[in-house]
Amino acid sequence: MEMSRREFVQGMTAGVAGLATMGGATSALGTPATGSADEIVVAMIGTGVQGRILLNDCVNIPGVRFKAICDIWPFAQRYAGNTLRRAGQQVEIYEDYREMLEKEKDLDAVIVASPDFVHAEHTIACLQAGLHVYCEKEMADSLESAREMVLAARESNRLCQIGHQRRSNPVYHQALQMIQNDEVCGRVTACYGQWNRSVQPKLTWPDRFVIPDEILQRYGYESMNHYRNWRWFRKYSSGPIADLGSHQISVFGWFLGANPTKLTAMGGADFFPDREWYEDVMAMYEYQTSKGSARMYYQVLNTNGYGNYFERFKGDKGTLVISENLQQSYYVPEGDYDIPDWLAQVERTQRGGMSVIPLGAAIAARNAEGAAIMQEMDRKTIHQRHLENFFQAVRGNKPADLTCPPDVAYSMAVPVLNVIKAVESNEKLQFTETDYKI
Ligand SMILES: NC(=O)c1ccc[n+]([C@@H]2O[C@H](COP(=O)([O-])OP(=O)(O)OC[C@H]3O[C@@H](n4cnc5c(N)ncnc54)[C@H](O)[C@@H]3O)[C@@H](O)[C@H]2O)c1
Repeated sequence: MEMSRREFVQGMTAGVAGLATMGGATSALGTPATGSADEIVVAMIGTGVQGRILLNDCVNIPGVRFKAICDIWPFAQRYAGNTLRRAGQQVEIYEDYREMLEKEKDLDAVIVASPDFVHAEHTIACLQAGLHVYCEKEMADSLESAREMVLAARESNRLCQIGHQRRSNPVYHQALQMIQNDEVCGRVTACYGQWNRSVQPKLTWPDRFVIPDEILQRYGYESMNHYRNWRWFRKYSSGPIADLGSHQISVFGWFLGANPTKLTAMGGADFFPDREWYEDVMAMYEYQTSKGSARMYYQVLNTNGYGNYFERFKGDKGTLVISENLQQSYYVPEGDYDIPDWLAQVERTQRGGMSVIPLGAAIAARNAEGAAIMQEMDRKTIHQRHLENFFQAVRGNKPADLTCPPDVAYSMAVPVLNVIKAVESNEKLQFTETDYKI
């Protein structure tokens, strides 16, 4: 019996070679010649700044081909269309995702990189159309919408990946093992995370690319300023704590092996007179881990960029600092803690008057797997790794292989989106395990 291309993609079983080893002719950019039976045909909704980053990563993934893109802004449509054309991929361009889903019957998957307030609408519509979805973080602008996404994914029997790329970052997985298996920090009692950003001007737009009011309103935007600066307005986003904090806050629960049980927070919304969201937020969490309690302090600043972004774990044997920027990642043993031989042999560097062990070099020295990871880390972006995890899971039809499925992303969103409630209520919030599950 003949198998259609779509059935082939959705039915391939586990163990079949991954994307990197797939056969078939490839272009200079690594894009397959169009039309091969086992390629994954994708569309993108929202081809703005992040959409274009994902798009550029996708054209480097063999076996993935764009068929359509959708964006309400002609500037973004043109930019993405040209990028794909240069990569040898001709696409249909749409303004309305409903028309795209109606007309494009040969899609396998959709990448959603629109603003947060429409993630649920776009993701659910694609899942219900029988498509796999990669949706950017924060998965939704409310826990209610996030919950609907989890349920839609379950009912659709399609795969859904949320764009928390740290979950597919091998450096994070190695650091996790250093904390949990090697216990280089000993018992972790205190954690700290930050994303500090200098004051950034509002986004503008060229006069010739103003979207008419009628179209803005059709898609829920009050003005061109709201449309461009959606992150700062309550109607479209949950503000910087979700935009930036959602990348990091869940790393602590992941590494500690426990969800937060308590949360208290403060936020300031008075630095920018023309923006709605808290520009600076400070939140404190408590965890009950298998080794005892631990506390975490997290801050996001949009008024000062000192220190950039990182996550720090402190225990009685040492401190491990990890960041998506490997240059900011290192380990410092505590006092006279007798570190294991593989760690002792790593050459130290000076940092702020301290002698530290660079995390990349520590991972390379840890074992053969760590050495192999560090050797090829520069070959791909972190986003490409997360996309590849998604496409490999789709190809193998193995939801369990996804590093950030929607139920995991929901549990990650609980301590992030509740920060707003904690700020507004001025109360300490308490959580049980049932709060993290659907
Ligand atoms: N994973 C990461 O590291 C990361 C980094 C940045 C942004 N993001 C996420 O990516 C998403 C997009 O962020 P961005 O920085 O690209 O924003 P952006 O404003 O640059 O892009 C959003 C795009 O979506 C389009 N759009 C808006 N409403 C639409 C609709 N109803 N239908 C179709 N298109 C629509 C806009 O025209 C715009 O081109 C957000 O959810 C953001 O949180 C993730």
